[in-house]
Amino acid sequence: MRTLQWAGLPPLPVLGQGTYFMGDQRARRTAEIDALRLGVSLGMTLINTAEYYGAGGAEELIGEAIRDGREQVFLVTKVWPSHASARDVQATVRAACARMRTPYIDLVLLHWPSRSVPLEETVRGLRAVRDAGLARHIGVSNFDVPWLKRLAALERRPSEFAANEVPYSLAQRGIEQGVMGEATEHGRLVLGYSPLAHGHYGGWDTKPSLRTAAEAHGATPLQIALAWTVQRPGIVAIPKAVSPAHVRANAAAGDIVLGDEEMAAIEAEFPAPARPYRPMLPANIAFHRLVLGAARLQRRMRG
Ligand SMILES: NC(=O)c1ccc[n+]([C@@H]2O[C@H](COP(=O)([O-])OP(=O)(O)OC[C@H]3O[C@@H](n4cnc5c(N)ncnc54)[C@H](OP(=O)(O)O)[C@@H]3O)[C@@H](O)[C@H]2O)c1
Repeated sequence: MRTLQWAGLPPLPVLGQGTYFMGDQRARRTAEIDALRLGVSLGMTLINTAEYYGAGGAEELIGEAIRDGREQVFLVTKVWPSHASARDVQATVRAACARMRTPYIDLVLLHWPSRSVPLEETVRGLRAVRDAGLARHIGVSNFDVPWLKRLAALERRPSEFAANEVPYSLAQRGIEQGVMGEATEHGRLVLGYSPLAHGHYGGWDTKPSLRTAAEAHGATPLQIALAWTVQRPGIVAIPKAVSPAHVRANAAAGDIVLGDEEMAAIEAEFPAPARPYRPMLPANIAFHRLVLGAARLQRRMRG
């Protein structure tokens, strides 16, 4: 697994593990824990989660998966925007530490921008958890260029906000316009989410550019698609996989280095969109409360 040294962060694997839709069904618990442990053993030591995933269930699952190896992993979690007040950020991070059975989290992010709580206030909460030793680093998620400008204006030192977690795959290249450049300029890590298009990669395995590169590297077209997401500097992609075969395939993709011609052919076949990335969720608190409430209800009903 290739590693990345970026700004003030420790060396990180270029591929980590996502946990969206994990931890919300008891019947899948063992398979999900095994998948995360397998991924860590293969070098995917960055684990990405959120209080929202399984309404805390994913964080609990991670706590179990890393029970005997906390120091091996770099934990990232996200605070849901209905908890963006300074007081709620602190309570949320304390609860996340308890769920993951850890005294600290490596990186804590605001999950989505919120218009209901001033960004200054959320930043105050994030700084408080960092200063209290509950978070080693702080950052954001789903910030587009206008939101990043507001964030940069609050920054006290370069790379204070260490990361921006945003969608990045062959199907979603909008961050190449603006967001990636901002990250490089300010020394922010890009955490690329849904690198396999949330499983909607139908047809990718027949694309000539991916097939040609796959043959050259002794890989599959999907491994090439995943490897493509981490060719530019400053990006860690976080595929989610429960199937052991998928976990193994993803870990192996972290070693693939694509050549310029391969990159050009792939990008011609999967062109970047005309418009830059924009966050897709409305930024108001009523909506965010509703979404988190629904996740909690779903968890209770599934058991
Ligand atoms: N910040 C945000 O707002 C945000 C939003 C979305 C996601 N995320 C993060 O990003 C992570 C990844 O995104 P995602 O979960 O949306 O989707 P994804 O990683 O793009 O795709 C996951 C899907 O691809 C399948 N898969 C994984 N590896 C595969 C392989 N080698 N070959 C074929 N299929 C494979 C998985 O199947 P199996 O599980 O059955 O193996 C699953 O169905 C999330 O889990 C979460 O941590 C963050």
